[in-house]
Amino acid sequence: MSTGPQPTPGPREEARTAPASNGAEQRTGEGVSAPRPQRPASRAGSEAAAAVQSGTVRGRAVRLKDVHAYYGDVHAIRGVDLDYQANQVTAMIGPSGCGKSTLVRCINRMHEEIPGARATGEISLDDVNIYGPGVDVVAVRRSIGMVFQKPNPFPTMSIFENVAAGLRLSGGKRGDLKERVERSLRGAGLWEEVKDRLASPGIGLSGGQQQRLCIARTIAVEPEVILMDEPCSALDPIATLKVEELIEELKTRYTIVIVTHNMQQAARVADTTAFMLSGELVEVGPTDTIFTKPSNSRTEDYVSGKFG
Ligand SMILES: Nc1ncnc2c1ncn2[C@@H]1O[C@H](COP(=O)(O)OP(=O)(O)OP(=O)(O)O)[C@@H](O)[C@H]1O
Ligand SMILES: [Mg+2]
Repeated sequence: MSTGPQPTPGPREEARTAPASNGAEQRTGEGVSAPRPQRPASRAGSEAAAAVQSGTVRGRAVRLKDVHAYYGDVHAIRGVDLDYQANQVTAMIGPSGCGKSTLVRCINRMHEEIPGARATGEISLDDVNIYGPGVDVVAVRRSIGMVFQKPNPFPTMSIFENVAAGLRLSGGKRGDLKERVERSLRGAGLWEEVKDRLASPGIGLSGGQQQRLCIARTIAVEPEVILMDEPCSALDPIATLKVEELIEELKTRYTIVIVTHNMQQAARVADTTAFMLSGELVEVGPTDTIFTKPSNSRTEDYVSGKFG
């Protein structure tokens, strides 16, 4: 995308605004999008929708080529090739221990933080190999944010500080802090619920609100990709619904990868679904194809509940 080495992924607003919509083309061009039930937008969903309308489309494609990951001698990921389309939601499914979390941790270079763990292969954010020499790992993690299974707000911090902390840690200086915190909370569909108690502790919120607070903290630093590892598994059905509606809105701005054990959730939120087994990618395709007419019998056995 530019001349000379450019190891550090950076904002690409200019590239995204010119060709009107990378995501829209992908969704309509090849019938990638699975028909799914339409739901009336919740307040959280419509609030996020309003917040993203004015924003710049930022999602970038992520491309995995022959990715292997190890924990010492354990070969957990075995040669995965997979493309995540920009501004789409891709669900990762597969039985416990198949490597879903390991794979997503490779995508923002968190896997290598585990003692004894290493990864090989190539992972690119658009055309920048994030495992290339000289890459700024902090910049990678700013571009590729992560939301975890259990909401993990900073326990001693207020709601405001939880979001501001991400900005301060990343050294972001652009714009007024208050304004950016508000924008992030709006983007996470949480502003209306918390605007009168921004100084209260983040851990005083409900589980679902805490998860949206963590999403606000993640989007505050303006990533391009958001990885979500079972983000709803600790939430009740109502809170789950809100997060799912939020994901639907967020994909207009970000590329989203979501690990889930919940087939209905994958069917509801994902454009594309990838099925993994024993560290390998078995099949990837449009979500409705994976669930209704997969080409691999192991995928069919898994999605029909024969194992897993
Ligand atoms: N820190 C670790 N040290 C050693 N082995 C690990 C570690 N974390 C994961 N593994 C192994 O790597 C493999 C993949 O694990 P991973 O957590 O990625 O699976 P998963 O698909 O996310 O499972 P789950 O659905 O239960 O979360 C498993 O065999 C697991 O035991
Ligand atoms: Mg996992």
